Amino acid sequence: MASKNQMTDPLRVGVAIRAQLQHEIPKDLPLERDFREGTDYTITDHVVELHRTLVKDPRTLELMTGLVTHLHTFARETALTHAEWTKIITFLTRVGKESTDYQNEFIILSDTLGLSALVDELTHPKPAGCTDSCEAGPFYVPNAPEVPSGSSLAKAGTHGEAMFFSGTVKNTKGQGIKGAKIDVWQADGDGIYDVQYPGTTEANDRGKIVAEDDGSFCYRGILPTAYPIPSNGPSGDLLRALGRHPHRASHIHFVLVAPGYDDLTTALYPSHSPFLGTDPVFATKKSLVCNVVEECNPEQWAKMGFQDGEVTNGRVWVWTYGFVLPTVEEVKQFTRKRGSAKL
Ligand SMILES: [Fe+2]
Repeated sequence: MASKNQMTDPLRVGVAIRAQLQHEIPKDLPLERDFREGTDYTITDHVVELHRTLVKDPRTLELMTGLVTHLHTFARETALTHAEWTKIITFLTRVGKESTDYQNEFIILSDTLGLSALVDELTHPKPAGCTDSCEAGPFYVPNAPEVPSGSSLAKAGTHGEAMFFSGTVKNTKGQGIKGAKIDVWQADGDGIYDVQYPGTTEANDRGKIVAEDDGSFCYRGILPTAYPIPSNGPSGDLLRALGRHPHRASHIHFVLVAPGYDDLTTALYPSHSPFLGTDPVFATKKSLVCNVVEECNPEQWAKMGFQDGEVTNGRVWVWTYGFVLPTVEEVKQFTRKRGSAKL
């Protein structure tokens, strides 16, 4: 190992290194082994070994070892050429440069490559029988107004067809979870969220509902329609190059929270929606697809709480779903049993 004197000797190191050494002493290591592709000591071994020697935080070392190993494997298995890697770097540079506060191209890239969905599954494992989770997406607004069950979440004049959502929140024993808080947000009948309308000041098509004593809740609103994720940047170009589209299936977002239970972030999809099988962010799961039915009897509309004139197209879309939450302890046990999570 080089001595500190060698590292500060102007005959051995330049002015830039000497200036750095005013603040830090880099650890130097001898080059004991040469690395070469096709031998029993490759550049992958060398990078991993260097990190193993220098990185102090065990989790950082684990993540970086995995990342370097798999990146190198990707290059080997695909026989990646220099020209192709240059093209990838150019693309990733665009992803960085074209990201804004409102459109993070790295997040879109992570979503459209299925990595966000995978990380979500790894972070929130669900025991059998519990409602699956999926990503919240970019339109969640914390502290939505709390409203009683049975309220309308759609303000007068919201575009779209009338919908009545009726749900239950239960535990794995089938018991209703009294007081569970259900955050709901969704697009309107034009596929647009309230926060996307210029000058929005009040919540629309969103709210926080408290479950009744038996875990049931309901609300009146608007049937959401499909909408595209932003596709005017490099991630959109990649989607098109892969023969894919940016259109998300219609959905309603939910976050369910109850003391002692594992929080659930999820979304539900109507079976009539297009794009269920080609959702660009892989957030659709079969267990979350619901059969939404049309109710054409005005007497039933009144029972749901609709006033005369509120139902304009001769039908109300009736959507029902039963959410099942595991307890925090059940998730811990499931995780231990599966032996895959590192919480
Ligand atoms: Fe959404």
